[in-house]
Amino acid sequence: MPTRKKIGLIGAGNIGGELARLVANKELGDVVLFDIAAKENFAKGKALDLEQNGAVLGYDSHIKGSSNWDDLKGADVLIITAGVPRKPGQSRDDLVAINLPIIRDVASNAKRVCPDAFVIVISNPLDAMVYEYKRVVGAPKEKVVGMAGVLDSARLQLFLAREAGVSVKDVRTTVLGGHGDDMVPVLGSCTINGVPVGQLIAKEKLAAIVDRTRKGGGEIVGLMGTSAYYAPATSAVAMAEAYLLDQKRLLPSAVYLDGEYGYKDIFMGVPVIIGGKGVEKIVQIELTADEKVMLEKSAKSVQSVIDVVKKAS
Ligand code: LMR
Repeated sequence: MPTRKKIGLIGAGNIGGELARLVANKELGDVVLFDIAAKENFAKGKALDLEQNGAVLGYDSHIKGSSNWDDLKGADVLIITAGVPRKPGQSRDDLVAINLPIIRDVASNAKRVCPDAFVIVISNPLDAMVYEYKRVVGAPKEKVVGMAGVLDSARLQLFLAREAGVSVKDVRTTVLGGHGDDMVPVLGSCTINGVPVGQLIAKEKLAAIVDRTRKGGGEIVGLMGTSAYYAPATSAVAMAEAYLLDQKRLLPSAVYLDGEYGYKDIFMGVPVIIGGKGVEKIVQIELTADEKVMLEKSAKSVQSVIDVVKKAS
């Protein structure tokens, strides 16, 4: 008999709540909104509010707040936002010491209750946290991804659309590398319905847009005093949906590289195809010499945080 999918959301904060709302609204499955014991009632309250929301909107997903890992047994998808978001003045990398033990705890519990789940990590510093998650669980590389590229590409897409005076729907973008200020917006692959962006937007404007994209998360932290959550949640749900519905979507995602793009034993953003088997293919695109240099710089930044994580083993 067919059963509903189970989607575990680890962390019931701003992103967790928005993730639950989107997953339920799309009826991708039933949701377990998990948080630590001290925040159990908060998770339960949010879950109840979202279930009541379903009565108005007409969705039937069950949403359960919990601090009991056993409720995550057999989850099909886990989206991990556990940890602390940054504050103004902090970089994502500044969160490594505080978020590392949290990710390790999440990974060891997930290994016990849902080792076969497709896992999307959002916690920062993203590339190092998803690396550590995979290491602790020992999960196959197809089943563990980090959400960053979809979000960074969306930011680039918006800024290009506004500058060109066109709909966001017609802009296609790719951002590679680590989820930090060295990320690599690949302008050569960015088009407005097939027209290279360089033909419609002046060079200096493009340079300013690249810079704004790289600092896109920090811009919001500076304004709100905490991290973004609407666009990050929507980006992760697009990835979860691609897996659950076997959509074969080509989405930039942080994945484990084993020689692709010349990198090994590192998580970094590259274009991948996500379908029912998880990461079904890593797509290798031609990069210019300049883009290769930028990717190398970004990889070095990611590696330096992964090295901190490895030393803390
Ligand atoms: C983002 O890019 O919005 C997230 O990584 C959160 C942050 O603090 O930047």
